[in-house]
Amino acid sequence: MIYFDNSATTQALPEVVDTYDKVSKSVWGNPSSLHNFGEQAFNLLEQSRKQIADLLHVHPDEIYFTSGGTEGDNWVVKGTALQKREYGKHLITTSVEHPAIHNSMEQLKQLGYDVTYLPVDDEGRISIKDLKAAIRPDTTLVSIMAVNNEIGTIQPIKEAAELLKQYPKIHFHIDAVQGIGKGIQDQIFNDRVDFVTISGHKFHAPRGIGFIYGRRGRRIAQLMSGGGQEKNQRSGTENLPAIAAMAKALRLLLTKEPQANQTERQIKQLISDHIRKFDKVTIFSKSTDRFAPHILCFAIKGVRGETVVHAFEKEGIYISTTSACSSKKHLASSTLTAMHVPEEISTSAVRISLGDQNTLDEAKTFIKVFDRLYKEFDKLS
Ligand SMILES: Cc1ncc(COP(=O)(O)O)c(C=O)c1O
Repeated sequence: MIYFDNSATTQALPEVVDTYDKVSKSVWGNPSSLHNFGEQAFNLLEQSRKQIADLLHVHPDEIYFTSGGTEGDNWVVKGTALQKREYGKHLITTSVEHPAIHNSMEQLKQLGYDVTYLPVDDEGRISIKDLKAAIRPDTTLVSIMAVNNEIGTIQPIKEAAELLKQYPKIHFHIDAVQGIGKGIQDQIFNDRVDFVTISGHKFHAPRGIGFIYGRRGRRIAQLMSGGGQEKNQRSGTENLPAIAAMAKALRLLLTKEPQANQTERQIKQLISDHIRKFDKVTIFSKSTDRFAPHILCFAIKGVRGETVVHAFEKEGIYISTTSACSSKKHLASSTLTAMHVPEEISTSAVRISLGDQNTLDEAKTFIKVFDRLYKEFDKLS
């Protein structure tokens, strides 16, 4: 089996599952309880928070645990909109965001907010000129993803940060769900960013756990009201086994990062260089440092993405149509649509997404299978 769908989710590592298991069995107190069991759980909670903060060179009180990327994105977007509604109701984002951002924005539009979706070029990248032109006196939020989940474009977040230094009151949010562990931490945790969304299951932690970074002094409205956990910002009894497991997974991710990114780049390059020779292939993810190392999106003209995915699956290779969210709905990729890729090509797009467990041998196997399947597709079309 070759698993090339790491942007959809990753397999939890055995040592991470081990932590989850041990904490579930032995540190099962509620961190808010006053007795010993509670204290033990509270200490582990704060230890995990500190471990994550240290790894990212931020303060522990800037880490807020969530249930994952979708919650983090919803919280920052809606939390900013609510918190700052007296100062303005204009929000800026890009036209290639994950639905967790896009649909939060759409919901706010129905409540009277105004949203600007920045256009992208033929690599799926926004321009800082467009961002500058979109900023208004009533803008309260700029939300930009670090790495696009469908084709892997790295957005100019550092340049956006520089520009936003001139607008200190605007909240600057980065959805870094696909960007963490991909060699761009200094761009993500830059000196201007206010909020960052991270999701654990993209780096071998369990599903349903994540966190946001929130800069000291920046406030967003709470969406989860209740018992006042997470410094009264996000209520709900903390998922301690998953939090401790995620802290471990993050440490492992960052330890392996340079080597893993290098191998991912080599695999991506090897496959790209091979498939680009075929007439009907269009590659959307370049092999430059303007793209993340782990995502390769391409289309075979005349063959629908689902057909390609299932053909590879029969051969034991797991890839996806452009994103896990859109795949079952048979929708064209929203990123490719924003790039004005014609529908007959965008509905043929598929995504390979690599992780630190993939190898060059797997890439060679993929290439052999690709050659065989291409011939069959060619006959069909
Ligand atoms: C860029 C991006 N943002 C947000 C999310 C949502 O994260 P989660 O699956 O943890 O809710 C994803 C998931 O694929 C993503 O790729």
